[in-house]
Amino acid sequence: MDSRRIRKQQPSPVSNHDSESEALCRAESEEKPSLVFQRPAVILATFILMLLPFIIVLSNRSPSLEFFCKAGRVEGTGGFEAKAKQGSNITEGNFPRKNITKDILLGGLLVPGFDEGSCLSRYQSVLYRKESPHLPSPHLLERLRKQEALQKKCGPDTELYRRAIEQLKSGNSAENLECNYVVVLSYSGLGNRMLTLTSAFLYALLTNRVLLIDRGAHISQLFCEPFPNTTWFLPSDFPIDHVSSMYKDDPRSYGKMLKDKVIGHEVNGATNGSQLPPYVYLHLSHDYGDFDKLFYCEDDQRLLQMVPWLLLRSNQYFVPTLFLIPEYEQELSRLFPKKDTVFHHLGRYLFHPTNPVWGLIGRSYRAYLAKADETVGIQIRIFDKKNTLFQHVLDQILTCSLEEKVLPNISLQEPVASSADAKSKVVLVTSLDSAYFERIRNMYWEHPTATGEIIGVYQPSHEGFEQTGKDMHEMKAWAEIYLLSLTDTLVSSSWSTFGYVARGLGGFKPWIVAFKTSNQMANPRCRRAMSMDPCFHFPPFLDCKARARSSVDQGALFPYLRHCEDSGGLKLVDPAEQ
Ligand SMILES: *[C@@H]1O[C@H](CO)[C@@H](O)[C@H](O)[C@H]1NC(C)=O
Ligand SMILES: *[C@@H]1O[C@H](CO)[C@@H](O)[C@H](O)[C@H]1NC(C)=O
Ligand SMILES: *[C@@H]1O[C@H](CO)[C@@H](O)[C@H](O)[C@H]1NC(C)=O
Ligand SMILES: *[C@@H]1O[C@H](CO)[C@@H](O)[C@H](O)[C@H]1NC(C)=O
Ligand SMILES: *[C@@H]1O[C@H](CO)[C@@H](O)[C@H](O)[C@H]1NC(C)=O
Ligand SMILES: [Mg+2]
Repeated sequence: MDSRRIRKQQPSPVSNHDSESEALCRAESEEKPSLVFQRPAVILATFILMLLPFIIVLSNRSPSLEFFCKAGRVEGTGGFEAKAKQGSNITEGNFPRKNITKDILLGGLLVPGFDEGSCLSRYQSVLYRKESPHLPSPHLLERLRKQEALQKKCGPDTELYRRAIEQLKSGNSAENLECNYVVVLSYSGLGNRMLTLTSAFLYALLTNRVLLIDRGAHISQLFCEPFPNTTWFLPSDFPIDHVSSMYKDDPRSYGKMLKDKVIGHEVNGATNGSQLPPYVYLHLSHDYGDFDKLFYCEDDQRLLQMVPWLLLRSNQYFVPTLFLIPEYEQELSRLFPKKDTVFHHLGRYLFHPTNPVWGLIGRSYRAYLAKADETVGIQIRIFDKKNTLFQHVLDQILTCSLEEKVLPNISLQEPVASSADAKSKVVLVTSLDSAYFERIRNMYWEHPTATGEIIGVYQPSHEGFEQTGKDMHEMKAWAEIYLLSLTDTLVSSSWSTFGYVARGLGGFKPWIVAFKTSNQMANPRCRRAMSMDPCFHFPPFLDCKARARSSVDQGALFPYLRHCEDSGGLKLVDPAEQ
């Protein structure tokens, strides 16, 4: 990794990044900030050491498919599911009309009453995706309905929104407003944006704020509106005009104000509501500083509750650390009795492909995936292309897939006659370039499999070489993530947020493959994910009482928090499955 990548991530109007790294980032819409840049090598080494016993435990276990987990499963999901299960007819283009008696409202996550035609995917995901074994808790459903009401009551084009904007212009915050807001100033690649939006949405639920999104996030081509009869887009006449260039040194940055002692963190005589500005910028990206990280402390949360407008920029899945804030812990446990389902539920609630993207998904699905007895996703993401060898990546992917019996080996003997009822497997490959796809396809074309299975290999796009404008490019990337989430088994690349989103939406634990670079140690070739939930790559390791870095291992504090399989970050797991 080089410094250009890091520089590129800053939404600075000065755009001096080179076209290659731009193309690379746009191509897979994903960035991996440099570890070396963020932490001293010593800390990295410590992480690896801390991980060691864990890795050994993992590799000694036989891989288990505890997919249909029982722990935390909640029965009874309110009235919506019952209504949906009465059966409704779903039609789309030339898709055969069939009676869908499946749960189109996903256990009550979704509400009926949206215009179906404007967003076909919302009620049609059951056409392609298996029913999830994980039901949302009744408390989550109740809170989602409350949030929908809040979004409608306080959203753009309401009297309450106008009042909140007036107050923002006036510069005071003291007056107690009915509506408070968190505005996501999103940037970086698609996977990171989806993880950030989900985290910000959960934060909005926990703090009774309206979630709005800066239009600079460019997501209207990708996702339908998730909240009924309102919009989640920040109106273009929002009075703070430099939102797109706000960064960590902004005078209204919370960390900067703490550092410069413009405000204190405690709610007392020294800092009370009347002295707080009406808006605060929260810098929660991978490159945040020690003062920015204090956002995750309870005192600071109490203070921020008095600020009506929070503008938040991140490229991280910061959900795991919200579980460490005492104030939210209990509510989070009620919302998610099974803690590793946060992204699974919120992601399926928020992210509905727009009709053009749904078309891409449907055509791919019907042409390639629908007919297979079994589907396998192979998601290849190389972050350091210069220092990672093609053959090494291919070897790692294939050896993992063969050893873990995701794919059958080929036979070099006489052709094995495939019987007419031979099982078929379709492999969906996603990667920047098509060379991996070609090698895997040829392998199964030129040789029979040892098991007699028929293997088809398919790659929807390889945008590393062809760019047809950012919008179409991102639509294809989103379609690929969604298709990966529909597969039966996934082999994904370590560190990839694309892989995280796919496994979270699909609700499964993929195999994670690591690649060695010329300046990085080899990791174990292939590991089963501990849980479906995404990884928070750069959590703050904080001691809130001391307001300093902590030496306590947060991955060992609670049974439901672990260091990620593929980084020293943190992720939520289900203790019953470990
Ligand atoms: C589904 O379609 C069938 C045949 O077109 C129709 O008879 C039935 O009433 C429809 N059911 C619903 C719930 O719309
Ligand atoms: C749909 O289901 C209903 C009741 O189960 C049945 O009468 C009807 O024929 C079905 N329609 C189609 C198109 O399969
Ligand atoms: C949105 O508003 C329309 C018109 O008032 C209503 O019919 C519909 O049910 C509402 N949708 C939802 C999901 O509340
Ligand atoms: C807040 O600060 C203002 C100005 O310093 C002061 O007048 C007011 O009494 C304080 N309010 C509380 C609740 O401490
Ligand atoms: C797959 O088959 C090839 C050729 O028969 C063999 O060399 C290789 O070791 C096998 N790989 C695995 C993982 O079984
Ligand atoms: Mg990404």
